[in-house]
Amino acid sequence: MKKVLIIGASSCLGSNLATYLRRHYLVYGTYAHNRPRIENVPCFQMHLDDETPILGVLKTLKPDTVLYCAGVTDTQLCERDSDLAFALNATYPGTIASALSRFGGRFVYLSSAKVFSGSKGNYVENDFPDPQDIYGSSKRRGEEILKRYENVFILRLPTIFALGSLNQRSMLNRLLRQLWRREQISCISDETRTFVSAHDLCHAIGLLVDADPIHEGIYHLGASHSDTYYGFATRMARIFDIPTKLINPVSGADFHSQSHHHHDLSLGLGELRKQFGFEPEKPDQALKRLQVGLKKGVFVPSS
Ligand SMILES: NC(=O)c1ccc[n+]([C@@H]2O[C@H](COP(=O)([O-])OP(=O)(O)OC[C@H]3O[C@@H](n4cnc5c(N)ncnc54)[C@H](OP(=O)(O)O)[C@@H]3O)[C@@H](O)[C@H]2O)c1
Repeated sequence: MKKVLIIGASSCLGSNLATYLRRHYLVYGTYAHNRPRIENVPCFQMHLDDETPILGVLKTLKPDTVLYCAGVTDTQLCERDSDLAFALNATYPGTIASALSRFGGRFVYLSSAKVFSGSKGNYVENDFPDPQDIYGSSKRRGEEILKRYENVFILRLPTIFALGSLNQRSMLNRLLRQLWRREQISCISDETRTFVSAHDLCHAIGLLVDADPIHEGIYHLGASHSDTYYGFATRMARIFDIPTKLINPVSGADFHSQSHHHHDLSLGLGELRKQFGFEPEKPDQALKRLQVGLKKGVFVPSS
């Protein structure tokens, strides 16, 4: 059985991926501060800094694939501490990929639609990246560093709707909790995004873990449909039987400074479809799957 090491198994996406991938691979996880408890996924603490003994860890575990889910994802923290953002989102993934290349392992990096400015939308893999903020620039720098190594797969993610093992981590958890309490919420109605479920993310990562190395390179986890946060939240409310009048449309300009206002960050489905025949679920289907999972008390519904 292939071994997969998830760096940042405590992240919202990492915990979803660990829960899904353990069905097919031997999965190990790392965390920095928040120990995840995922059955059959041994996790150990590995705080990334300049002293982290990456080589020793890889020598001991010999993973077939390292899946890098750590990072600074809070865009405001990135603006306040750009050194930390560039270290976690670019330098350390490069260090790990470099060490891994000695053992012939594969490196999968989760990048972001925010490597683009949002001036165009429906971005495909060969569109030229033009990040506007520190988060996007640090993810782009990570991509550039990783280009030096073989057997690296970069998956640019849109907005993933996921329930994580740590409640506070997931935007969706927060949104649902407020709506279930019948609290009024504000959602941006003038910025376009692609929304893809954690289930589709897990499926796409499974394809990359098993892909032939000749398929290495950049992929977009895109879709043919896009929406605003307001549109997504009202769609979800309808499916979950929550009154849509609790959701108030607001402008993105009220949330971010003008320079970081990403109008249309939607990702097109290009290479994943072309190379692997990948198709994400339709939004209603994905939300209904999520609803079924929630009723069963699981955060990654089985396929
Ligand atoms: N969520 C999305 O929709 C989305 C979209 C585009 C791209 N991405 C990318 O996908 C990845 C996962 O995103 P997420 O939202 O799931 O992340 P998240 O929940 O914010 O978690 C961040 C992760 O980074 C780890 N971390 C922070 N500082 C660390 C350090 N010094 N050393 C080692 N680990 C450290 C955290 O570990 P502890 O919790 O143990 O401290 C945690 O596992 C990120 O690289 C992000 O850029 C996510």
